[in-house]
Amino acid sequence: MSQSSSLAAALALFVRFGLAVNNGLARTPQMGWDNWNSFGCDVSEELLQASAKLIVDYGLKDLGYQYVILDDCWSNGRDDNGTLVPDYTKFPNGMAAVADDIHDLGLKFGMYSSAGVYTCGQYAGSLGYEEIDAQTWASWGVDYLKYDNCYNSGQAGTQQISHDRYNVMAKALNDTGRPILYSLCNWGEDYPWNWGSTIANSWRISGDVTDYYDKPDDRCPCDGPDAWDCGLPGWHCSLLNIINKASFITSKGIKGAWNDLDMLEVGNGGMTDPEYLTQFSVWSAVKSPLILGNDLRIVQPQDLAIISNAAIIAVNQDPLGSSASRRWFYETDDIDEYGKGSYQVWSGALYSTTGGDYYDVLAVFVNGNNSPLTMNATLLELFADLGSTSAEAYAALSWEVNDLWGNRMSNEEAQAIIDAASGNYTGAAWNGTSTDRYNATAKSYAQGLAEADPLLLGTKTTTVAPSGTVVAEVDRHGVAVFRLRAIPTEAARKREL
Ligand code: GAL
Repeated sequence: MSQSSSLAAALALFVRFGLAVNNGLARTPQMGWDNWNSFGCDVSEELLQASAKLIVDYGLKDLGYQYVILDDCWSNGRDDNGTLVPDYTKFPNGMAAVADDIHDLGLKFGMYSSAGVYTCGQYAGSLGYEEIDAQTWASWGVDYLKYDNCYNSGQAGTQQISHDRYNVMAKALNDTGRPILYSLCNWGEDYPWNWGSTIANSWRISGDVTDYYDKPDDRCPCDGPDAWDCGLPGWHCSLLNIINKASFITSKGIKGAWNDLDMLEVGNGGMTDPEYLTQFSVWSAVKSPLILGNDLRIVQPQDLAIISNAAIIAVNQDPLGSSASRRWFYETDDIDEYGKGSYQVWSGALYSTTGGDYYDVLAVFVNGNNSPLTMNATLLELFADLGSTSAEAYAALSWEVNDLWGNRMSNEEAQAIIDAASGNYTGAAWNGTSTDRYNATAKSYAQGLAEADPLLLGTKTTTVAPSGTVVAEVDRHGVAVFRLRAIPTEAARKREL
């Protein structure tokens, strides 16, 4: 074999068995909906059909929510050949029919299993059945696998052991020839952020999120400053607990392979509006998958407005794929019912919408205090670690400050969209062409950012002078999110003329 043809053969092998980050999927974090957070095991064909249709009718598909994911409790054992059998009471027409319905709406279909003998709900797991299960899912038209960690027969305890167990399914999925996004759900056990990117498109970094902002729970160990060394991260984790855990591993996500902070709780009723804004904002800033977890059939307008904010989603789907990082964190005495008080600031590089030499910069102020707080951060603090250009060079410019929640959809507009979807509305609701709502199907986020589309830039609040300070008024348990855009200096302006 000539040198070039053996190189080509090696390359072909690499592409076939290579990194999941090279399977072409999740170049930006995946977006979608999963039934688990609001329905648990109560799954059915009708639920998936209804939810998929609402994703389209609410304009969520056109914001990028693409995957409809069926979680645990869908099967009824294996047949004599070892093939998984759907529960025909819940899915009378089988899974391929569900996949067809979802595909007909222009969406993609995700399913769930466990790298164990059983799933967490004690249905048949896929350990030892990886190839046959991957082939079955591919034959049904499945586009996404969420792969859990229950009943793993003790095959955990070191990074290598967990990696090897999950790698069997990675290879089986690749062997189907069908692009199937591979989402690891081993709750952060054995530090998957260190090895997940070699085999998968995302990995959960913690135990299951709960619908609480900062409620401690013995079942979710490792919090605050100690959260970094947590080989067994538990479950029943609060929002701030997961944010703390994420803060130590933000550098691990890359295009095609992301830290997964777990599904969204927005709309599930346990948290306040500012708390839900915090989840949606930080999840976006950290480039976590954005997987909705609410009952779309009863969505409230204020929650639809949160999950529809294209200016925030554009941060999540940013072409740089670079997670924001925490710059500082303070615990305080302004404690709430759970004895917690804190505040923190995150920042990171975003695609340059000014077309200049400087990235746009994301600034996220998180107020975990029990009362509203005026927070501030200097440009120098915010501009740490942005790339090869120094923080000092960045801070020497003036910066336009854009509030990314500034043009949040009004409750009236959101209600109109909800009414239209349920057939109650007589006015002009979402039809895919509204001029004040972003349509990512028509124009990708990358394109919109390149054009500095105003729908992705929030509202301009102020300008900060060189070496200045960004100030934010932040609600109790709330968040302020700004996109800073460089204002060219006089010298640069003259050069352009
Ligand atoms: C958990 C997983 C949840 C959900 C559940 C199903 O282990 O973290 O997201 O999938 O199992 O039983």
